[in-house]
Amino acid sequence: MDTPIYLQQRLVCVAVIDQADDAVPLAEALIAGGLNTIEVTFRTAGAAEAIARIRRHVPAACVGAGTLLTADQVKQAVDAGAQFGVSPGLSEAVSKAAHDLKLPLFPGVITPSEIIRALDLGWKTLKFFPAETFGGVNALKALIGPFGHTGVKFIPTGGITAATLPTYLALPQVAAVGGSWMAERKLVAEKQWAKVTALTAEAMGKK
Ligand code: 3PG
Repeated sequence: MDTPIYLQQRLVCVAVIDQADDAVPLAEALIAGGLNTIEVTFRTAGAAEAIARIRRHVPAACVGAGTLLTADQVKQAVDAGAQFGVSPGLSEAVSKAAHDLKLPLFPGVITPSEIIRALDLGWKTLKFFPAETFGGVNALKALIGPFGHTGVKFIPTGGITAATLPTYLALPQVAAVGGSWMAERKLVAEKQWAKVTALTAEAMGKK
């Protein structure tokens, strides 16, 4: 099967956007740095609007919805045009809504039991979160032992930086790495687009 567009670059920028007005310039700054995949987290009131604006005005971007905690947020994300969904954990309600609405979902897991449950629920690409706090690349390697043959893939996220990115991407079971380091909330709020572009280009150069 072809790699879906949102995993092709193997890097996802996790963004917290406080002002929907910042959504389009942020997506453009990432693209200027070479990255088109952005996850807009449902941690702010304007998340759905931010996704809709990026979809409308930045056709080169691939935009997903992150921090999906409820079925209602999955619906809002789909209505806004999100192309994929991400959750920090594994919720049956979120899983069902994503299946019903045909939204590709990356549920969050950290333990073997959660991986088994996620596979049972029909998901094969799982967010490994919070990656660095829970043992980082070594923990992921240990999990790949019993699960590698299932075809499961991971999106490690949480505490990863440009410096540690290559160690994760060296694992073939890593579908992509997620992180906010190229567009931290403060940088976005301060509209530091040139800095975002530079950090993104640096990350892209490490792949
Ligand atoms: C997330 O929700 O995925 C994390 O906030 C991203 O982790 P990071 O900010 O440590 O990159």
